[in-house]
Amino acid sequence: MSDSYLTFCFLSSILALIAIICFIFTKREKPNLNLPPGQMGWPLLGETIGFLKPYPAVTLGDFMEKHIARYGTIYKSYLFGEPTIVSADAALNRFIFQNNGKLFEISYPKSIGEILGKWSMLVLVGDMHRDMRNISLNFLSNARLRTQLVKEVERHALLVVTSWNKNCTFSAQEEAKRFTYNFMAKHIMSLDPWNVESEQLKTEYACFMKGVVSPAPLNLPGTAYGKALKSRSTILKIIEAKMEERAKRIQKEDASLEEDNDLLSWVLTNTNLSNDQILDLILGILFAGHETTSVAISLAIYFLASCPLAVQQLREEHMEIVTSKRKTGEVELTWDDYKRMEFTHCVVNETLRVGNVVRFLHRKAIKDIRYKGYDIPCGWKVLPVISAVHLDPELFYQPHQFNPWRWQEKNKSGVSQKAMNNFLPFGGGSRMCSGSELAKLEMAVFIHHLVLNYNWQVVKGDQPFAYPYVDFPKGLYIKVQTHSCM
Ligand code: HEM
Ligand SMILES: *[C@@H]1O[C@H](CO)[C@@H](O)[C@H](O)[C@H]1NC(C)=O
Ligand SMILES: *[C@@H]1O[C@H](CO)[C@@H](O)[C@H](O)[C@H]1NC(C)=O
Ligand SMILES: *[C@@H]1O[C@H](CO)[C@@H](O)[C@H](O)[C@H]1NC(C)=O
Ligand SMILES: *[C@@H]1O[C@H](CO)[C@@H](O)[C@H](O)[C@H]1NC(C)=O
Ligand SMILES: *[C@@H]1O[C@H](CO)[C@@H](O)[C@H](O)[C@H]1NC(C)=O
Repeated sequence: MSDSYLTFCFLSSILALIAIICFIFTKREKPNLNLPPGQMGWPLLGETIGFLKPYPAVTLGDFMEKHIARYGTIYKSYLFGEPTIVSADAALNRFIFQNNGKLFEISYPKSIGEILGKWSMLVLVGDMHRDMRNISLNFLSNARLRTQLVKEVERHALLVVTSWNKNCTFSAQEEAKRFTYNFMAKHIMSLDPWNVESEQLKTEYACFMKGVVSPAPLNLPGTAYGKALKSRSTILKIIEAKMEERAKRIQKEDASLEEDNDLLSWVLTNTNLSNDQILDLILGILFAGHETTSVAISLAIYFLASCPLAVQQLREEHMEIVTSKRKTGEVELTWDDYKRMEFTHCVVNETLRVGNVVRFLHRKAIKDIRYKGYDIPCGWKVLPVISAVHLDPELFYQPHQFNPWRWQEKNKSGVSQKAMNNFLPFGGGSRMCSGSELAKLEMAVFIHHLVLNYNWQVVKGDQPFAYPYVDFPKGLYIKVQTHSCM
């Protein structure tokens, strides 16, 4: 059978399926509903193509800007094969997060569910989600961050930052990923960066990522999605081998102390999860834990490159920390040092606000809902667009400007309480990112060693785009020169 024949069969079954869905949906739509304004676009595709069109990441993109200007911050559309309510409205977004499980439920496209697995936290709902979430929160608890993780994060940041030559050019995005991946792989299943398995896993994840974000998730030979499904099974095989080896050692009670500390051992000894559940959990946390944070660090490197005043102020802050530690003979960073990095926290927040690593989330209405006079029918897709709130000129003065000083506590004309409450780069409610504190710690520690050791410029005129996942099309090449503060 030829590929084109397969494609034909596949497409026709998809079309038939969509026609059925449309039929059910039109039958279901009750009259007299006060739906938000908006248009449903083309048959079947709706407005999906316009919605997914890449745009510069520091903006909301043409599609969103035009729709908001025309219809307001709440509008209807037809996206990802479903009738949809898009919310660029700060209050509705919070309402969605607060009513998770009651009025709204998570609802990622089926293709994402298939690639992340049926036990993935982005798929599970109810008690099963609560239990998995509890595991992830235990693993990333503040107590662990304070005592063990600061040291580990610093060790991995140094490993990457000190490997750069004095006067060289490289992809900052790749280096940021090397840092976040190495740290997560070590922390989740005690894989060391120089381990062959670790390198193989990293390569598979790069391919896996392309499938997760693929705009055309068709499981056909040669497509990004098809390749990513293959990577998924390779990744699972690697994790499974590790898991079996570990389970044996735990039974014989000779797991080494260091390994006792990783997520794999924790899950094997403290929970009743089945093997399949453990595999999807580990695959998912390793994925969520490195792809997002590496983008956030790349964005910080990018924004700071054109903001020398901020780099200078960061340097002063981090020099002061190093100097005062010297006096007491301390070398490694501690949680207290991290808490003292006041301006760095401003830079981290501003990077997340302008860069918007995650732009929108997938939900669906599980009841008929009335909100501000609008009806949101049960079963409709609901997309809270968190980036729209972060770039709203009513909440943030000159929202497209990277201006970390707006976050300074003493700045009276800085971020208002209202804006602070609506700053939600990690989502909210009972599904808020469990890795948010770790992500911010990784960003701050990386910035610490970056500004203390280097000056850098972006070469090749790269800039971040939203696809809608954020990426630097040329890999964010930077040229570094050593900078000596001491
Ligand atoms: C800057 C970096 C990061 C950003 C912007 C980010 C963003 C998010 C967002 C917006 C969600 C909510 C998804 C939804 O509600 O549909 C989420 C969920 C999640 N994130 Fe993150 N994340 C980051 C880093 C991390 C890290 C470092 C980890 C783990 C080590 C992690 C683990 C998770 C997990 C497990 C969930 C699912 C939580 C649940 O369903 O209860 N994330 N993340
Ligand atoms: C969450 O984990 C903690 C620590 O293991 C445990 O004490 C608690 O009962 C768990 N909560 C739920 C709801 O499972
Ligand atoms: C760094 O490299 C550039 C060319 O890429 C060269 O012109 C410059 O002299 C070098 N600087 C040092 C300190 O080696
Ligand atoms: C695991 O299951 C056993 C028996 O079903 C139960 O006694 C034990 O408390 C469970 N452990 C956890 C951590 O849920
Ligand atoms: C205070 O924040 C505003 C933005 O809201 C910024 O333009 C200004 O530079 C900040 N002022 C100081 C003193 O940092
Ligand atoms: C950064 O944002 C968080 C909310 O995500 C807030 O709690 C924190 O105070 C902000 N930090 C600064 C320095 O404003």
